[in-house]
Amino acid sequence: MGIFKNIFGKNKNNEALNHSSVPRHIAVIMDGNGRWAKKRGMPRSAGHAVGAETFRTIATYCKDIGVQYFTVYAFSTENWKRPEQEVNALMDLFRKYLTEAAETMFESGVAVRVIGDLSPLPEDIKKQIAEVDKIADKLGENAATASLCINYGGRDEIKNAVKKIAEKVKVGEINPEDITENTISKYLYTAKMPDPDLIIRPSGEIRTSNFLLWQSAYSEYYFTDVLWPDFKTSDMDDAINAFNLRNRRFGGV
Ligand code: IPE
Ligand code: IPE
Ligand code: MG
Repeated sequence: MGIFKNIFGKNKNNEALNHSSVPRHIAVIMDGNGRWAKKRGMPRSAGHAVGAETFRTIATYCKDIGVQYFTVYAFSTENWKRPEQEVNALMDLFRKYLTEAAETMFESGVAVRVIGDLSPLPEDIKKQIAEVDKIADKLGENAATASLCINYGGRDEIKNAVKKIAEKVKVGEINPEDITENTISKYLYTAKMPDPDLIIRPSGEIRTSNFLLWQSAYSEYYFTDVLWPDFKTSDMDDAINAFNLRNRRFGGV
């Protein structure tokens, strides 16, 4: 772990997690799959496959310890730049996990949601997402939520919200003077969720890469150089313990 732990987290390895104080909303930038595979002489797609397993493990763990919202960055608006083969491998993983979500959602009690601009996704995936959405609706508001951000970009999300609000202004449904920060939040993909309390980025990169730009105004960040496919429930404990040592002032004293 080295330097990152010293700078960003005062946590100690294997410190028992105080489950009574888990963040309500944890978000993760699932990064490092490619490097994980490269280190092993494997194709990048193999890293994505293991990263997807990690998602399943960590999402389940979060639900078990009482995290209400777990949101992961799975594919950014910029990730289309990658080789077609890699994009296709990622789409196949989304197919696999959406199938699994539809089959197991009632049993697991986790409502799976997909957020982002879904319009350019393959038609069959769009259908799967609609199906999963219907099941999630049936689980109701009190179920834990796991949100997959696919073709998600923070700037794109804000741009789309501005467009929708502008349309309403145009037809006289919204008065510009009545636009508040809350109005904007309501037009984002995350309208029904609280802002993330804790945002974790594994893999050693220290940037947001266009993730939850509006919603992260007062999120606590936790960076670790563990690659996402290697991320364990103990790494989640470390992140939560570090979070619990932070003093969130929200601009106050
Ligand atoms: C994150 O892992 C997953 C996606 C962006 C889809 P990367 O594929 O970015 O892995 P690295 O950063 O190249 O190691
Ligand atoms: C961010 O990771 C996007 C996801 C994890 C889905 P990237 O690997 O795409 O980000 P950069 O290119 O390192 O900023
Ligand atoms: Mg990356």
